[in-house]
Amino acid sequence: MLNRDQDAFGYALIDYFAGNATHYIVERDDGYFEAEEIARYVDGYAKWSTLEREAAARVRGRVLDVGCGAGRYSLHLQKKGHRVVGIDWSPLAVQISRQHGLRDARVMGVADLRPGHGPFDTIIMMGNNLGLLGNGRRAPRLFRRFHRLTSDDGLIVAETMDPGLTRNPSHKRYQRLNRSRGRLPGHVRLRARYKECATPWFDYLFVSPAGLRKLVAGTGWRIRELIRSDGPSYVAVLEKTPGHRSE
Ligand SMILES: C[S@@+](CC[C@H](N)C(=O)[O-])C[C@H]1O[C@@H](n2cnc3c(N)ncnc32)[C@H](O)[C@@H]1O
Repeated sequence: MLNRDQDAFGYALIDYFAGNATHYIVERDDGYFEAEEIARYVDGYAKWSTLEREAAARVRGRVLDVGCGAGRYSLHLQKKGHRVVGIDWSPLAVQISRQHGLRDARVMGVADLRPGHGPFDTIIMMGNNLGLLGNGRRAPRLFRRFHRLTSDDGLIVAETMDPGLTRNPSHKRYQRLNRSRGRLPGHVRLRARYKECATPWFDYLFVSPAGLRKLVAGTGWRIRELIRSDGPSYVAVLEKTPGHRSE
């Protein structure tokens, strides 16, 4: 859980709803940074992309929304009749989700999830939150944990970007550096910043469909469907491998 000085995204959301903010900063450990639009993580279904709508259409049963933010997916799915648990390590994001009507929003990091929190029928990781799997070593461990958290016909619906499709020379340089140090190309070390708040540095993963196929191997999951966009963003729908037993 983030403390008040670390809750950069949460404060940005609070200021956004007060009409005082439009962007927050995502900073990479090589000094590269970008201003991210907050509205993208707040807008309702009417403004979602085809990719985002298609992802929502794959969801079934009881839902875990990992890194729910302001709760745009949780709230949409709750309205559709799903039982939804939204978790986020940002206390202010959880506060906002609750204020907007999310009945079960919990301040919790992805690493704090335990099998007792389940079972869920769908785990969603939207807004590029497949990235919360962190890095090549942590991702398989989390996939195994998600296996224990989900029902027999459980699904993971997760958004990411294919790092190989970027045209940004800074991203390409960072990916070359990653390869040279034995990391997955799309492994980034980031923090979010807003005014004087900064999250701790954390690992975040962008992965191609081929890379994802390798990461899920042996974890009890397999790719059921890839929903593509006309850019690098895509949504992976993962299902359980028949016969695999949770460890
Ligand atoms: C870019 S926002 C996406 C929010 C939401 N999924 C959406 O699509 O609108 C990323 C969210 O993940 C949360 N987050 C980042 N690291 C986390 C972690 N380790 N555990 C739980 N939530 C985390 C952030 O606080 C933020 O709310």
